[in-house]
Amino acid sequence: MSNPEGRSISDTEEETTSRQTPVLELRSLEKHFDTSTGIYDTLKRTLLGEGPSLVRAVDDVNLELEENQVQGVIGESGCGKTTLLRTIIGLYRPTDGGIFFRGQPISEFTDEDWKDFRRHVQIVFQDPFNSLDPKFSVRRAVSEPLEIHDIAYDDERIEEMLDTVGLTPPEKYLDRFPDQLSGGEKQRVSIARALVTEPDVILADEPASMLDVSTQAEILRLLNELTDDFGVSIIYISHDLSTVSYVCDKVNVMYLGRIIEQAPTKELIRNPKHPYTQALIQSIPIPDPHYERERTRLKGEPGDPINMPEGCRFKTRCPERMDVCDERPYDIDLEDRGDHTVACHLYYDHPTE
Ligand SMILES: Nc1ncnc2c1ncn2[C@@H]1O[C@H](COP(=O)(O)OP(=O)(O)O)[C@@H](O)[C@H]1O
Ligand code: SF4
Ligand SMILES: [Mg+2]
Repeated sequence: MSNPEGRSISDTEEETTSRQTPVLELRSLEKHFDTSTGIYDTLKRTLLGEGPSLVRAVDDVNLELEENQVQGVIGESGCGKTTLLRTIIGLYRPTDGGIFFRGQPISEFTDEDWKDFRRHVQIVFQDPFNSLDPKFSVRRAVSEPLEIHDIAYDDERIEEMLDTVGLTPPEKYLDRFPDQLSGGEKQRVSIARALVTEPDVILADEPASMLDVSTQAEILRLLNELTDDFGVSIIYISHDLSTVSYVCDKVNVMYLGRIIEQAPTKELIRNPKHPYTQALIQSIPIPDPHYERERTRLKGEPGDPINMPEGCRFKTRCPERMDVCDERPYDIDLEDRGDHTVACHLYYDHPTE
């Protein structure tokens, strides 16, 4: 029996089963915040027929993270990156949609599944200055996750971990407290804490953005080594495309809660399709004085995140805007292979009246 493309059902089945289950998958994930300011505001809004005052911080996000892959999520401040990570890790309950870990929906997790998930999916926060407990020595900070998960360890294991993240010699750091460490050293301790339970996935929320430039480069190099040496998959979040392109195999561009373009990193940099991605790439400085390129800056501010109108969310800043952009664009698979998609009306035909 053939499907309309002439391929047999058994071929299609074989393809489906031979495709590995993603380690983490997001399907139409939504996290909305009701920002109504109390009962009177809600009452007034109801009387005026306005509905709740909603921020659609994460809106219909789809993403598949494969084994040993590093995917970036890039977008301006306020576009929903941190909310996305906090929802994945279970700090926020999704408004709608699904999160799947190795094919299993987290909405059906038992307590035992949650414990396993918390061991295998770790997060590194943006702010190294507040993410460590000031009362915990480095030894205690790195051993705590092992104790929580009842994993046997000795000092050698902790020292090995410190060595891995570049805190050498480890014995120099074991008994230090956070106020005796630099920002870069603190972030290395956070990465050691995340790595010590041998996770499958690390969620990294702008882990280098609060550090000076040379320390940023060291942390990024460390993250790159980790995927090679430990086979861990990473979702790396940043507002800075140059750091994302250094670390990631694939990039997701996010704008006001939605992923508007997804592609392998090289393809995205060489061949950006969405006008927002094009503007982001043109705004990266090129460190070659002999090469001049007109740098465009994105004009205007992202729209008000509360109660955004339907249609393309970039339309208020887009130089290519058309009438049809008042309708929400579909995700278009440009190569028909699913690895470069863009949500923009420029890339598909519209029936003419
Ligand atoms: N707890 C919250 N309550 C209400 N609104 C929130 C909350 N957290 C984030 N937001 C809003 O959601 C949007 C996305 O925020 P965030 O995820 O922090 O963005 P980013 O990490 O990309 O800077 C912003 O408009 C922010 O004000
Ligand atoms: S859908 Fe329209 S407004 Fe949005 S990016 Fe494409 S051309 Fe611009
Ligand atoms: Mg953030």
